[in-house]
Amino acid sequence: MAPPTTTTTTTTSSSSSSSSSSPRFSPEEVTVVFFLGGPGSGKGTQSANLVRDYGFSHLSAGDLLRAEQLREGSQYGQMIKTYITEGKIVPMEVTVNLLSNAMREILDNHPPAPGTKARFLIDGFPRKLDQAVFFEQTVCPSELVLFLDCPEDVMEARLLKRGETSGRDDDNAESIRKRFRTFVETSMPVVDDFEKKGKVVNVKATGRVEDVYELVKEGIEARGLHAR
Ligand code: ADP
Ligand code: C5P
Ligand code: MG
Repeated sequence: MAPPTTTTTTTTSSSSSSSSSSPRFSPEEVTVVFFLGGPGSGKGTQSANLVRDYGFSHLSAGDLLRAEQLREGSQYGQMIKTYITEGKIVPMEVTVNLLSNAMREILDNHPPAPGTKARFLIDGFPRKLDQAVFFEQTVCPSELVLFLDCPEDVMEARLLKRGETSGRDDDNAESIRKRFRTFVETSMPVVDDFEKKGKVVNVKATGRVEDVYELVKEGIEARGLHAR
């Protein structure tokens, strides 16, 4: 699939829709689940299970940013690379546009069966409070937030191992340290905010992949999300 394009034009058109009162997609038409957790907590791994069993379309903000970084002609390539290597959060308009355009493309190419709502699992987003507010105002309010709770030592070991083969600019000890810091200082406040609103399904993510998945299923089923 071609990476969604992000141009000044789409940024402008999207932000102009932000000034209108309604988001681009309605919760009547789509279900959005945010999937959060520290770097290496297992979001990508568990997403594959959820796509298979629950009919989600998986959108990883990090994957979309990496694709945009590599897209020929992107005006954001170098900027994204720098932010990712430094473990910093890319300015939200770029990420929100990529997500919003990817959702539009999926809905156009794979419309949900009649009588069902499309489901989007948005992995690694929102990582900052402003992203959460902007997305819910301009793209779509979320249904719930799935959070993988994992201690840093476990995440660090997983990321260093992943780094042996991932080819990612940020799976090295120095970037990992920076990403953990950003997670604690910038991203955990997003989880805490959603927690106060009663929207978080909290799952302990230290076990084996299949055991974590059992807990994930328990958590979302309790919120009325069932396999399809
Ligand atoms: P995230 O998307 O949250 O950064 P990933 O799903 O990419 O995390 O997982 C990070 C690394 O840890 C990957 O190499 C993955 O195979 C591995 N991993 C994921 N979940 C587990 C688990 N429960 N136990 C052991 N290793 C895991
Ligand atoms: O989720 P993932 O680990 O793939 O994200 C990699 C990097 O992409 C983050 O460390 C950050 O630099 C960037 N990112 C971002 N905003 C997001 C998600 C990812 O800036 N919402
Ligand atoms: Mg990931």
